[in-house]
Amino acid sequence: MFAHETKIISNIRITSDTFLIALRSPEIVSQAWPGQFVMLRVGAGIDPLLRRPFSICGVKDDLFFILYKVVGRGTAMMTGLKENDAMSVIGPLGKGFDLPEKDCRHVFVAGGIGIAPLIFLAQVVKDKDIRFLAGFASASEIITPDRVLDLDINVSIATDDGTQGHSGFVTELMKTETQEKSLKSVFACGPMVMLKKVTDLTNEAGIECQVSLESEMACGIGVCQGCAVRKLPAGKQPSYFHICKDGPVFPGQAIDWGSV
Ligand SMILES: Cc1cc2nc3c(=O)[nH]c(=O)nc-3n(C[C@H](O)[C@H](O)[C@H](O)COP(=O)(O)OP(=O)(O)OC[C@H]3O[C@@H](n4cnc5c(N)ncnc54)[C@H](O)[C@@H]3O)c2cc1C
Ligand code: FES
Repeated sequence: MFAHETKIISNIRITSDTFLIALRSPEIVSQAWPGQFVMLRVGAGIDPLLRRPFSICGVKDDLFFILYKVVGRGTAMMTGLKENDAMSVIGPLGKGFDLPEKDCRHVFVAGGIGIAPLIFLAQVVKDKDIRFLAGFASASEIITPDRVLDLDINVSIATDDGTQGHSGFVTELMKTETQEKSLKSVFACGPMVMLKKVTDLTNEAGIECQVSLESEMACGIGVCQGCAVRKLPAGKQPSYFHICKDGPVFPGQAIDWGSV
């Protein structure tokens, strides 16, 4: 883990409210693993006070990439960052995905901006036969790996409003995949409600899933207790994971979804 100033190489718009920022740090690149994240200081001074967590979306040479969606003040401030600006970064943090086994069938399931860590996983796995499913609210919000990192991967799209691809939720696309006998495991990132559904579907099919969880984070290193999520099996005394330190990637079967 490193804590240092990085240089912004580019910050480009991908859709109306998502941007891709490239940061130079040979140190972070040397340790980065899919599913891990960084804590960014998005303002020049101490405003906003808290750093913001973002998944590493991929690496190239000595650059790492963050794909971010504008949802509030911090991410809105990030859109104004320019080439050569400095950014303070702590990372890579957390525990990422366990690599899919070779020569087995795997499915990636992304919901919205949750595609970010799965793009990095696809970059590392380098398998053109990954079944990559991605769901977005509408056609205008679609982000695919080729638009971000030039990765040549076929993606099956679902949109909630039916403007492109399957009309409905991405988990509906997943149902046909889980019927395949050769399917070994599912890797997913997206809204909690989607991850719960992914876990339910993989439980029904008797296959593994690894899910990358998000929560608001103050420290990112297991100190503030702000990112706790309840573990299964539920005992008399509830026990908790810290998403920042024990995750953000967990077996879906280890999470008490009733508590999130
Ligand atoms: C491990 C991890 C990886 C992440 N990776 C990415 C990524 O790759 N790309 C990306 O765009 N975002 C990612 N996020 C979410 C990102 O951290 C938040 O969107 C960001 O911190 C919002 O900052 P803000 O100042 O713009 O919004 P704020 O003003 O802080 O909040 C705006 C709204 O967003 C909600 N919100 C803030 N943070 C989160 C969160 N973590 N989860 C759910 N709701 C939240 C707030 O409750 C509020 O309603 C990740 C979060 C975690 C924990
Ligand atoms: S964010 Fe502080 S303990 Fe996880």
